[in-house]
Amino acid sequence: MRTPAALAVLLSLCACQVDGPPTEADIDATRGAALFAQNCASCHGADATGGLGPDLTGIAARNGGTFPRDRVMAQIDGLGRHGDPDAVMPEFGAAGMGDTVVVEENGIGVPVPADLLALAAFLEGVQG
Ligand code: HEC
Repeated sequence: MRTPAALAVLLSLCACQVDGPPTEADIDATRGAALFAQNCASCHGADATGGLGPDLTGIAARNGGTFPRDRVMAQIDGLGRHGDPDAVMPEFGAAGMGDTVVVEENGIGVPVPADLLALAAFLEGVQG
């Protein structure tokens, strides 16, 4: 009598395995927008146009029209400013950022936290 239920559980476990780890294609700006609203909007404004922190919709414009994704991610996770006593912005994800996604960087696969990529994707989408 219990077999069908056990089989259903097994099948769903198998489906999980087939899904595998997230890839860069799974990154979506919608998750980035939610993370932004939760962790960043208090300083950078709900629409990212600034407040206590700078306007984040002009990053590409200030960089000759190119969105500097790596530099932006380094700013967000604190890598770009470790030890700066004047830094106001907290390091995002100090407690861990969950799953990583392997991203090709100059022909080398680098694991990058999916939440960081999602935030960068959201910010890239709001560039003016
Ligand atoms: C406590 C306020 C505060 C919070 C919260 C905050 N920031 Fe910031 N952010 C700042 C300030 C202030 C700066 C200017 C540089 C500095 O002082 O560290 C900055 C700078 C930046 C920059 C660099 C802008 C540029 O022109 O290069 C990016 C990108 C950024 N923040 C993204 C984020 C994201 C994404 C989050 C949420 C995960 C976040 N910030 C949360 C205050 C904050």
